[in-house]
Order: sequence, then structure tokens, then C-alpha cells
Amino acid sequence: MSKIFLKNAYVMKSSDSETKKYNIAVNDGKIIKITGENDFFDENGYEIFDLNNKLITPGFINSHSHAVMTYFRGNSDDTTIKEWLFDNMLPREEFLNDEMAYYGAMTGFMEMISSGITTSVDMYMFTDSISKAAADTGIRAYVSRGLSYDTQEGWERRINENIETYKKYNNYDGRIKIGFGPHAPYTVPMEKFRELSEIINDYKESINQIHIYEGLWEKESYKLSDLEETGFLSHNVIAAHCVHADDEDIKILKRNNVTVAHNPSSNMKLGSGTAPIKKFIDSGINVTLGTDGAGSNNSLNILKEAHMASMLQKNTIGPEKIKKEEILKMCWENGAHALNEKIGEIREGYMADLVVFDLNDEEWLPNNTVKFKSHLVYNIPKKSLYATMINGKWVYFDRKFPGINKEDIYEKFGKYCDKIEADFYNYSNNLGK
Ligand code: NI
Repeated sequence: MSKIFLKNAYVMKSSDSETKKYNIAVNDGKIIKITGENDFFDENGYEIFDLNNKLITPGFINSHSHAVMTYFRGNSDDTTIKEWLFDNMLPREEFLNDEMAYYGAMTGFMEMISSGITTSVDMYMFTDSISKAAADTGIRAYVSRGLSYDTQEGWERRINENIETYKKYNNYDGRIKIGFGPHAPYTVPMEKFRELSEIINDYKESINQIHIYEGLWEKESYKLSDLEETGFLSHNVIAAHCVHADDEDIKILKRNNVTVAHNPSSNMKLGSGTAPIKKFIDSGINVTLGTDGAGSNNSLNILKEAHMASMLQKNTIGPEKIKKEEILKMCWENGAHALNEKIGEIREGYMADLVVFDLNDEEWLPNNTVKFKSHLVYNIPKKSLYATMINGKWVYFDRKFPGINKEDIYEKFGKYCDKIEADFYNYSNNLGK
């Protein structure tokens, strides 16, 4: 593993720190030393990168995604959530296979990396393909098999797949972790949550995922207190959405230490409502940010989510009620807290998961360090994203993916996308007969 020394850059260490010039030494995937601009450091044996007029921030943590759904971008833009899900997403998913899922996940993860995401929390089928794509792109990933119940046989098959992926990929390169992903309490009966809770007892460290109260109609379908009673919520859970959580639900989320993954673009686009994010924060709930899948967002740009999260709260509860530092904390420190990992901050001993922006771009004007957090949240500076380091390796540098044949991957992705659409077209025509 190479030793890297990053020099002369402006560094934003965390959501509440001032931006100053530092040098950062990286070894064996970790930040081992941070020195002041003029401090002596023995650079011998280090590969040196002069990042003059560039800004280094912690890598962004995407706490809810479905990378493979990149295939479905633009398929059902202006429909209700039920038309979107039942008439467009679920039928298309029937035409996916392992290889297609791999190229969908590769494309999704590459888009995330080029928007500064260094960690992604993903729930879907085809967890082997997704884990392989995470291994190949270099992203840090938390992958869960989306579990739903139709028959006992189907339920057990999905859990076995989840466990097989765990055996194969958990802790791969120290950056892939496998957990369980019961899709939602309206697709999994409560007694199955109880069974799953027993299984998870053997996987104490796993980070588990679920969707809770995305749509208002879900309030008719189950009670969060019933889910709490199954024991599932106490197993390191990240719950996506929670748009319609009421005061009682907030107490339940808090006492089970559930992290809420807020996905503002997806919620707004599907007309799901506005999650009471500020109320969650004030209640002591850990709130993070997610892109959700490209089928509903449609972009995998976490900076856009930071922007949207802020706009949505300002427009709902008042512009002074949420600050840019709180928004950045959601995608840095809070994301790290949900995953129990030394990421989300630039600190000695932490993982070297970093993002570099080119300050020569107009996105960063006025080029004044006290304004950099403002530019990050309110100007969505994706265009100037220059490089992304994960686990001490450049996985994106000078706007290129070293070691990845991008043209080949995007070509295969396009070919499979056309195939899905052709299959879907035939299926839709047959429905009409
Ligand atoms: Ni989702």
C-alpha cells in the first residue's frame, strides 16, 4: 500500500471546523499525520501530490441507495408512487440478471464516486453482483439483500442469499460490509421480523436497512410499535424516509437508536411529503442523507441532496431553522456514527476517505475560506470535483477512474438498458392482449 502526502491544500476537517491549509500524510489506508502549512514533515518514501488551490473535505456518506436502479432513470418521471412502483419499477426488475446487476451497480457507484461519495449504503437483490461492483470501483459499501415475504420458500431463499453474500464479501478489503435488508413492514409480516431478529443475533456487527413510512398510506398498514416489539429495530438499523413518523414513532426510533436516512429529492419527486428532519434532530435521533435510487431521484449526487435537504426544511419550517453545518454533519459525522466507522472527518487515525475540489472553478467564487461551506451546500459544486480517495487509494483522479475501462462499462450498461426496455415493451404489449 502506497504512502501518500497531500500538500498545500485547504482542508475542511469536519462540519464544525474552520477551513485552513494543512498537509495530510496517508499510509495503509489511514490518515496518519496532519501537519500545519509550515510544519516540517519527512516526505521520504511518500508519493507527493501538490494540491495548491484545491480543497480537501471528508468523503460523503450516502446512507440510502439502490445503485442498480441506475437502469431505470427517466422511466417513470411524472407518475404517482404506486404507478411508479407497481407499473414501472417492479416489472422491469423481473428482467435483470446477475451480470446486468453488476453493470448497473458499477455505473451507479462510478456516478457516486464522481460526486464525492466514498461510502454507500445499498439495499437490493443481486447482492453478490453489487458487492463485486463495490470491490471493483473501490467504494466503501454496506450492502443488504432486500428481503420481502411471498412464500416461506421465497423468504428462506432470500435470507440464504443474504447469508451467502455475507460469507463471501463481508469485510472484503476492510471496506465492504454485509447486513440484512427487510424491505418494509408492509412487505414482511411481523412474525418474520421476529425470526429475522433471531438470525441477526448471530451477526451483531451488521448494519441493517429498512424503509419506514415513506408514504402516508403505510400508516394504515402497520404500527411502528409492533415492529419495535419484534426486536428488529434494536439491531443497528438505518431506516430510510420516516416521512410520516409522528411523536410516538419518534420516541420509538430514538430509544432503539435507529438512524433515519433522509432522501429529500426522492421524497419530493414521488410526492411522499416532507420528513420532520429538524424534529428528529432535536429529539436526538441520528439523521443522515441518502440519494435513494436513480429510478426516483434521478441523480446520485449527494451534494444535490444536501442542497435539497436544506431547501426543503427552510421552505417548511423557516430559513433560520436549519444551518449548513447541520446538513454537512448529516453526510459526514452522522453517516459515520450510523456505520460505527472512523470516517466522515479528517483526523489522524481515521480512514483516508477524502474528496478534492478544484478551487479554480467559478463554483468556488468568491474564493474565501469562510464561504466554502456555503458553496458546498448551496451551490452544488459537482463540476469542480477533482478527485476522490477511498481507503487511501485514488479511485477517481483528475476526473478519471484509474484502472477502470469506463467506455466498456457504459457500453455494456447501455446495451443491457436497451434489452430491459425491449423486454418491458413486449411484456406491456402482452398485458394488453
Ligand atoms: Ni429506497
